[in-house]
Amino acid sequence: MISEPMQDALSEQLNHEFYSAYLYLALSASCSNAEFNGAARWLETQYEEEIQHATKIYRYLIDQGVKVRLAQIDQPPAEFGALLEIFEFSLAHEQSMTARLNDLSDQALGEKDHATYNLLQWFVNEQVEEEATLGEIIAKLRLVKDDGYGLLMIDNELGTRTAAPAPE
Ligand code: FEO
Repeated sequence: MISEPMQDALSEQLNHEFYSAYLYLALSASCSNAEFNGAARWLETQYEEEIQHATKIYRYLIDQGVKVRLAQIDQPPAEFGALLEIFEFSLAHEQSMTARLNDLSDQALGEKDHATYNLLQWFVNEQVEEEATLGEIIAKLRLVKDDGYGLLMIDNELGTRTAAPAPE
């Protein structure tokens, strides 16, 4: 059984993962409205990944015998800027998630809760990949600036993203 403070902290993270999913869906909708259908697909796949992240925490809490209480999910913004701003916004969001996960890892270590620490390391590693991928996309978008052909190429490339396998 994990401590009550750890239960609360993980429940909060579960909520943040669902918010992330919701946010990526809002970002995807914004791209769809602008006819950036490749970026919209990329972001919708990200939405699906975030649902998987939330579910991974949910299952862990259930396995630990925690009485899960789901909180309300915040409403994401509806208006975003150009494609570059959308991905910069996404990276800033992931950086804030990384900071949360680092704090949670510290908490788990402080409590000598190694099972939770192990769970959290999966997320910490996932954040490295997510931030790197977003950084690459941002670098390409900065390179092409407002060049329509360049943006079209990047949008096409983003549209080739395939669904991620479910985490173990
Ligand atoms: Fe679940 Fe994008 O971190």
